[in-house]
Amino acid sequence: MTADRIAALRAAHGRDAVASPSALRFVRAPGRVNLIGEHTDYQDGFCLPIAIDLEVWCAWRPRTDDEIHLRSLDLDDSAHFTFDTAPAALEPAWARPAAGIAHVLHERGAHVGIDLAVSSTIPIGSGLSSSAAFEVACGMAIAAASGLDIAATQLAQAAQRAEHLATGVPCGVMDQMASVHGVAGHALLVDCRTLAVTPVALPAELTVVVVHCGVPRTLVGSAYADRRAATEAAASRLGIAALRDAIPEQVVDDPIARHVVAENRRTLMFVAALRRGRSAELGPLLLASHASLRDDFAVSTPALDALVDALVAAGALGARLTGAGFGGCVVALCPAADAARIVERATASYATTSGNEARAFFVRAVDGAGPFDP
Ligand code: GLA
Repeated sequence: MTADRIAALRAAHGRDAVASPSALRFVRAPGRVNLIGEHTDYQDGFCLPIAIDLEVWCAWRPRTDDEIHLRSLDLDDSAHFTFDTAPAALEPAWARPAAGIAHVLHERGAHVGIDLAVSSTIPIGSGLSSSAAFEVACGMAIAAASGLDIAATQLAQAAQRAEHLATGVPCGVMDQMASVHGVAGHALLVDCRTLAVTPVALPAELTVVVVHCGVPRTLVGSAYADRRAATEAAASRLGIAALRDAIPEQVVDDPIARHVVAENRRTLMFVAALRRGRSAELGPLLLASHASLRDDFAVSTPALDALVDALVAAGALGARLTGAGFGGCVVALCPAADAARIVERATASYATTSGNEARAFFVRAVDGAGPFDP
């Protein structure tokens, strides 16, 4: 599979690249799953994503002009643009995030065009940050071609802006930070105010499972922007810079703000439980996060709720929707020895009760984006 993908990426560059393989350079950027700390990043809060072994891979080489020629192996489609192209106007639309990161890096001095072939194993539109990984991978290639020295956190921030420009969705910085800062075997405690990242070891006896509920995400752009605006309004009513600074007593009557304040606390408790090896405390925190996203923040769906229930009934320690919500995936923690059986039982009972076919990914925490030598 891996060798096939590399060969396909090479072949996309034409016969001369296959004949002289050293002309090509490779970068990879992982997707992410967030363990806990949802809808907190854009209020300066805490989140705990892991970079996962579902990744975007790029093979690239510089051009002699300032054009970017992009080929998607998965979509079997191509796009051309320059550093001046307005990202939101580009057709085909799938290439907009790449035009977004080119645009942002151009402001920092990127000017050398590239040929870029891309292939991804991250399911698109599932809430596993396929778009952030695409921006980070393209950004690394574009920056390298122009000899730009850009630190990982700066690249994450550039990719976040690229997403805003390309899609209009006012996302936070979690997805891009996870993709650049991933550490194998670890979750990443991200302080979204200081952008400090602290790796937290994951216990070997637990498996992280991501399960797609079989229903695509809907309304994710507009409803996401609505929720973000509601949190900003709550912070400004309280006269504080961000809900990170609120205490529970200030937000008892506001479900949106209540979620953010409680979720920050749960995230820090989750990290403390991981550090102390108290795995039994993790499940209840995941379930409390899901309940808060469902009842207070209102971003769950009946399918996500049913899948969480099915996983817990089948023996998962806990489970919760992950990412923005409105469809897509849940994340579950399972005892490693039983994970396969738990997921099989859960997806079977979920199929019977909901009529949806769930798809599971047993994911590993991997290192963040970077060049690689195939
Ligand atoms: C999406 C956004 C992130 C974050 C999550 C919710 O994944 O891209 O910035 O806000 O939703 O936690």
